[in-house]
Amino acid sequence: MLFDKQTYIERRHILKERLGSGLVIIPGNNDTPVNYPSNVYKFRQDSTFLYYFGLHREGLVGVIDIDEGREYLIGNDIDIEDIVWFGQVDSVADLAAQTGIAHSAPMTQLEKLVAKAKVSSQPVLFLPPYRHDWMIQLGDLLGLHPSKLREAASVDLIKAVVDQRAVKTAGEIAEIEKACGIGYEMHTTAMKLCREGVTEQYIAGVISGIASSRGCIVSFPPILSMHGEVMHGYPSPRKLEAGRLMLCDAGAETNENYCSDNTRTTPISGKFTSRQRDIYNIVVACHDYALEVAKPGVKWWDVHMNVCRMMTDMLKDVGLMKGDTDEAVAAGAHAMFMPHGLGHMMGLDVHDMEGLGQIYVGFDEEVRPNLDQFGTNCLRCGRRLQEGWVMTDEPGIYFIPALIDDWRKKGLHNAFINYDLLETYKDFGGIRLEDDILITKDGCRFLGDKRIPYHADKLEAFLADRDK
Ligand code: GLY
Ligand code: MN
Ligand code: MN
Repeated sequence: MLFDKQTYIERRHILKERLGSGLVIIPGNNDTPVNYPSNVYKFRQDSTFLYYFGLHREGLVGVIDIDEGREYLIGNDIDIEDIVWFGQVDSVADLAAQTGIAHSAPMTQLEKLVAKAKVSSQPVLFLPPYRHDWMIQLGDLLGLHPSKLREAASVDLIKAVVDQRAVKTAGEIAEIEKACGIGYEMHTTAMKLCREGVTEQYIAGVISGIASSRGCIVSFPPILSMHGEVMHGYPSPRKLEAGRLMLCDAGAETNENYCSDNTRTTPISGKFTSRQRDIYNIVVACHDYALEVAKPGVKWWDVHMNVCRMMTDMLKDVGLMKGDTDEAVAAGAHAMFMPHGLGHMMGLDVHDMEGLGQIYVGFDEEVRPNLDQFGTNCLRCGRRLQEGWVMTDEPGIYFIPALIDDWRKKGLHNAFINYDLLETYKDFGGIRLEDDILITKDGCRFLGDKRIPYHADKLEAFLADRDK
């Protein structure tokens, strides 16, 4: 466990005070088969379960009966056959004691607790499930078809969890900084390996190995490709080609499952061409702008939109965009180049709490999402920043041949996009730069004690130095 049991007791206490009533069910994760039942993926605990209970074992459920003032850790003790194969583990009663819970029970107890709640009309509160095993199990328990569970999830519980998990304590920040340290090693290794003739798959494999050897796992499968214009371009067996760019978006999770998430874009030949450098420097300026302005009370929506305006102005300077900047951004023309949001919360999930619903995590009564406009509909966060939040800052510029063709054919944004020049960028790829920032009392700061080089001169100097 990352923290002592008092931390978990206190977190559950805050949750109970906020909700006032109900039977709260917080399932931990189960082992998940890859290709047959006993061949499983590396175990990853559910993040909300980790937040309130801190335990890494599979097959557990935390239940909080707020009305009766009782907490339960539910799970089956392993039998002698499991001990033979997997070794001795703590009993469920011992695990309960470790997290400050007085009652433990086998899995059959869960059905009894839910049945009792139903009889007494006690609300059963749960979060939207995202794994199919739990969808089936919760569906059975509650008499609901699994497809109805997301809408039946408790909004009060979601909001309470979001408010608690969003604000990171010093202990959580320290753990995220550990993940950033692993991320630094991953990214600087990828940059050192980035050379003509090396495959994308090889570099992605090496950096995934760094993540596993220093902590738990990668925080998501690395995005590593010469086709940086593909937002989630996974590594292929292709060999890196001279003159192109390699985009690497990757992060680590510590053994306690706090994440990092960084992106760097590296010239495979060691130096940018002048065309690459011009576009790269726009992304750098947008990245650094966010760092300057992010602070408590500022709407992330505004930071994103200001970045879009800055990008549009600078793309006008290179001739790719034209017309009135405010009108271009209001119309969504900039999304040709950056079809995603500036950043998202990060914590125990790399997209923190995304499974609970973007509307509750990144928006509120004041700042509502725009779900209709291409690009703007991909913002994962818009609301006012708070001290203690961890955000990613990840602007990018992409040249997506299919999107260029699509918009041109449809005659979209002709007043703002210079399609003739844009045609000549179809072989460019894409650039993204991403760092993790902590919102502090009156500003923000980078997380991680070492900066992965990103200013063009520093990056080229790093690449030149690697051969010495
Ligand atoms: N995993 C993609 C990103 O949010 O950076
Ligand atoms: Mn990323
Ligand atoms: Mn990210």
